[in-house]
Amino acid sequence: MRIAVIHGPNLRLLGRREPGVYGRATLADIDAMLVDLARELGVEVESFQSNHEGEILDFIEQSAPRVEGFLINPGAFTHTSIALRDALTGVSRPFVECHLSNTAGREPFRHHSYLSPVARGVVYGFGPQSYLVALRGLVAVLREKKNA
Ligand code: DQA
Repeated sequence: MRIAVIHGPNLRLLGRREPGVYGRATLADIDAMLVDLARELGVEVESFQSNHEGEILDFIEQSAPRVEGFLINPGAFTHTSIALRDALTGVSRPFVECHLSNTAGREPFRHHSYLSPVARGVVYGFGPQSYLVALRGLVAVLREKKNA
């Protein structure tokens, strides 16, 4: 089972970006944690980061045939992008949305997500652990689906 992990805009800055909000872990640290967990769960992950909305849409379209689900931290595109929602629903693969910070406790413009209503699940507020909880949840859901 293969899962694509998508990191949206500005997440390459993790480690030095507002550490009070996002912590000190870098994107490479998070990807390494995901690879370790994937190994433990017996699945494969591939990670992709882009600051460009269109590149993320292209990646979703191109990777969908080889993956069974997506784990995405859409960054600020969470709150703005109908195109990203359409791309994810368009490829008919379950996806889990995750965020490092507790977006519900931050500025009002971060309270709305275009993706959450169509996500299989949403995890936020646990720093890098959000990604790990999201991966566990997604793998469990995909396995249930396979065994159904
Ligand atoms: C974020 C939350 C978003 O509101 C913000 O724009 C980000 C990061 C998070 O992981 O907490 O870039 O997705």
